[in-house]
Amino acid sequence: MLELHDIRTFYGNIEALKGVSLSVDEGECVTLIGSNGAGKSTTLRSISGLTPPRFGQILFHGRDIARVPPQEIVRLGISQSPEGRRCFQRMSVQENLDMGAYLRRDKEIDADRAHVYELFPRLQERRTQKAGTMSGGEQQMLAIGRAMMARPKLLLLDEPSMGIAPILVERIYETIAEINRQGTTILLVEQNANYALGVSHRGYVLETGRVVLTDASSSLRENPEVQRAYLGT
Ligand SMILES: Nc1ncnc2c1ncn2[C@@H]1O[C@H](COP(=O)(O)OP(=O)(O)O)[C@@H](O)[C@H]1O
Ligand SMILES: [Mg+2]
Repeated sequence: MLELHDIRTFYGNIEALKGVSLSVDEGECVTLIGSNGAGKSTTLRSISGLTPPRFGQILFHGRDIARVPPQEIVRLGISQSPEGRRCFQRMSVQENLDMGAYLRRDKEIDADRAHVYELFPRLQERRTQKAGTMSGGEQQMLAIGRAMMARPKLLLLDEPSMGIAPILVERIYETIAEINRQGTTILLVEQNANYALGVSHRGYVLETGRVVLTDASSSLRENPEVQRAYLGT
């Protein structure tokens, strides 16, 4: 479904991605783990068109999207829950969800909102509440729900566990697994690899803008270097 071929992405003169290649098959949940500054967010921002790569190819269903504008990439079926959640603080939960569907003109939006409320009952309870008054974990649910409202074929998740109480992280990860089981392909990036390797089929390890290791998630969990660097064991 998605193939990155040797992409190099820059912020001015700083080369944040120094030739990243990876792939995600239809139906998979794939994770990209790495320390702070490794280039995880830049990889997702390269795919979603927010920070396009200067070199390399990004193929989505065989089409090169590396120079396609972000809103067109959403239309093609890729949506992102950004690092730090970025909910619209003064808008209600429901208004935030509807923002996720702003490019759509079809008649399924109400049904999809109902589906997001099924996935995250907490959001339904709080549908009239302003996003800015909710906890970090609830806002993370909202950011994922908002991304789902674009009806993605490929869902990009940037550090869904960041700064969130463990009990809510568990609930969020159960729902991520459920979203994947229901057929949405997922590319998930995390600094805290514990949950990410639990939910994903395969993983890549990113260090300073390069993929240094890739394997089945179960094997990465057993890898002593991964355990030392990313699992805190
Ligand atoms: N807006 C920016 N301007 C300049 N450098 C940036 C910017 N965003 C990220 N970087 C740099 O790019 C590298 C990768 O960052 P990032 O993709 O955010 O890493 P991660 O998400 O893995 O923590 C880091 O060295 C970071 O300092
Ligand atoms: Mg990041």
